[in-house]
Amino acid sequence: MSISKAVSNTSTQNSIEKRLQIKRLVEATKIVTSTAGRDVVKGLTQNPKSLPAYYFYDDRGSELFEEICELPEYYLTRTERIILQQYASEIAEITGSCELVELGSGSSTKTRILLDAYQQLGYPLRYLPIDVSAGMLENSARQLLADYPALQVYALAGTYEMALAQLPTTDLPTRMIGFIGSSLGNLNAQECDVFFSQITSALQVGEYFLLGIDLHKSKEILEPAYNDSQGVTAAFNINMLEHLNRRFEGNFDRTQFEHWSFYNEVEHQIEMHLRSVRSQTVQLKALNLTVNFDQGETILTEISRKFDLDTIQQQLQTKGLVPIHTWTDSNQWFGLLLCQMQA
Ligand code: AVJ
Repeated sequence: MSISKAVSNTSTQNSIEKRLQIKRLVEATKIVTSTAGRDVVKGLTQNPKSLPAYYFYDDRGSELFEEICELPEYYLTRTERIILQQYASEIAEITGSCELVELGSGSSTKTRILLDAYQQLGYPLRYLPIDVSAGMLENSARQLLADYPALQVYALAGTYEMALAQLPTTDLPTRMIGFIGSSLGNLNAQECDVFFSQITSALQVGEYFLLGIDLHKSKEILEPAYNDSQGVTAAFNINMLEHLNRRFEGNFDRTQFEHWSFYNEVEHQIEMHLRSVRSQTVQLKALNLTVNFDQGETILTEISRKFDLDTIQQQLQTKGLVPIHTWTDSNQWFGLLLCQMQA
């Protein structure tokens, strides 16, 4: 008994290795390495100070984000999951056999709902997760492969920009790029425009883009989602400093910054900051950077925009990404849009 079990485990393991490919875009090219951190220098030398939100996602930050997704106040994940559960089979029917590319795949938990739907229709399962956290990417890929025996995974570790610019060709009939979880909210209007252009360059005519976005709602619901009572969001925000310390030989003292976030009703966005509790100087040796902070000075670490369905649909349409279906939940808190690339 123990022997046959060992054999079957080994063969599952082997088959996982055969069905898994991981490409590290971060370390793949020299150009990328030499520009790493320039965005940090730029953000910390301007006034007001800011940092790119993708620096949240080292392996620890990705874990903290997974915890955020389970918080009672953080309605986003739950709500999007409900929409996906309800409409995944409809999505699979519309696209037909399809390779799934996912930007910011994280733990790929919600992706399973889509994979199940494609599997149910008897389609081959091909998945290209893209994430900046290589650890998270590999772990979730291995778990998926263990649970879906027919799945092929080609994982890309790197930023969306890098990955979209070098997607391999697919031999399945079509492809869908998924960008769910409202990560689009991290991009300001101009970045959003550039991002949509990168999507259209990566897609062939007739291919699909699946977008999940958080919608306008009251401050009373929004603010607790980014100021949870257990302090997980605060830890997630502060963790960015630890990430920068490790990555760029920095000496941020995490006890000397505090989490601050609020809903900006004019811009329709959550703004998340780190506030310096006293005047202090921080060094990032690898970037040759010294930064002075006044007491109370803030670093903007994230915007999380909330969208209006009509406006975003029009914007996508203008970009040649035609919204062919829009689904939402009973409260209209979250939207899921399936777009098709126009000729
Ligand atoms: C992953 C960008 C969608 O904006 O809600 C969660 C990140 N920040 N709590 C969001 C986040 C603070 C999240 N996104």
